[in-house]
Amino acid sequence: MARSDWGIGIVGLGGIANTHIQAYRNAGLKIVGGADVDEQRAKAMKERWQLPFVTTDWRELIDHPEVRIVDITAPHKFEIRLPIVEYAAKKGKALFVQKPLLPYLDQARKLVEVAEQYGVPLMVNQNSVFVPAFLAMERYLRDGTIGTPYYCQIENRNWFDLSAHPWYGKEERWVTSDMAVHHFALVHHWFGEWESVYAIMGRDPSQTGIKGDNFGVVLIRFKNGVQACVINNWAYRGDRRRPHPREEIIIQGDKGCITGDSEEICIVTVDPPTKIFPQFQGKWFPDAFANAMCHFIDALEAGKPFWCSGRDNLNVVAIIEAAYISVKERREVRREEFAL
Ligand SMILES: NC(=O)c1ccc[n+]([C@@H]2O[C@H](COP(=O)([O-])OP(=O)(O)OC[C@H]3O[C@@H](n4cnc5c(N)ncnc54)[C@H](O)[C@@H]3O)[C@@H](O)[C@H]2O)c1
Repeated sequence: MARSDWGIGIVGLGGIANTHIQAYRNAGLKIVGGADVDEQRAKAMKERWQLPFVTTDWRELIDHPEVRIVDITAPHKFEIRLPIVEYAAKKGKALFVQKPLLPYLDQARKLVEVAEQYGVPLMVNQNSVFVPAFLAMERYLRDGTIGTPYYCQIENRNWFDLSAHPWYGKEERWVTSDMAVHHFALVHHWFGEWESVYAIMGRDPSQTGIKGDNFGVVLIRFKNGVQACVINNWAYRGDRRRPHPREEIIIQGDKGCITGDSEEICIVTVDPPTKIFPQFQGKWFPDAFANAMCHFIDALEAGKPFWCSGRDNLNVVAIIEAAYISVKERREVRREEFAL
């Protein structure tokens, strides 16, 4: 069978669904249709993208015989995602869920358990892992070019007000659960199992559209010896911005260093002293979204494991949980404290 035999139904036709649709169209994938509880939104998206099937009832979409993958882009709220996941799982449909799976570990675990109970595959759309530039970095990281990695730093800094947004940023948790999750997924994918987390966070109160943390620094120790520093400073009013998706990534090894972002990379090696500028095709938006879905479909087709499975992603959500506990209790939080 071909990738285009895997009919995709998108639940939630808001902002990011546009990127999903563009990405899937570019990759020649089959979009069966979409669902949105907002009738105006559903109608507008149907017209904009000429979607063959659009409904305000996501059950109808999931029931569509051509839908084999339910792509959830509805808000990451437990009360919204749980019924969709339960219904789709009962109908035996594969699940592809936007990050964060959910911002709280106990809630995320529940989604994973539902999928496992009904034996349906669930992949979390941690598209950072599939960014063309980051895949290029990963090749050099894994082939020994920079030796043994020991330190990684990822930094986003920008000013971002969400006053006009109806739900985003309006919960107790924000930048660490909703944005840094991109970076947590990436470092987990690159460096494996984490050991402990220490975090600081805060909120610039002048950003009135955001209720939770709008800056945070999260230090993660991995079992393989790598230490990572993930900085998300979304209350930065300076003029040296590093906005998403141009966060700066540094990976230091004992034989070299990778520096770059989603559009350019420079690798410096020590012996022999060289500079490498890896070439790659595509950007984060929308190419990483196509890569992520194609990866999922290829794995389903081959009956093989896939990256960013729901169960594996609990390691990522646990970093979020650990970071908030660390701030509240002012201590380092260890992975053994969580049942994953
Ligand atoms: N880089 C990325 O991967 C990226 C970027 C942006 C957003 N996201 C994620 O995508 C998700 C959606 O974000 P967004 O910016 O598109 O939000 P949005 O508010 O623009 O869109 C969400 C849509 O879901 C609809 N919706 C709400 N409840 C629903 C339900 N029960 N059934 C069907 N539709 C429902 C809303 O009407 C809205 O149209 C979030 O989880 C967010 O974290 C990921």
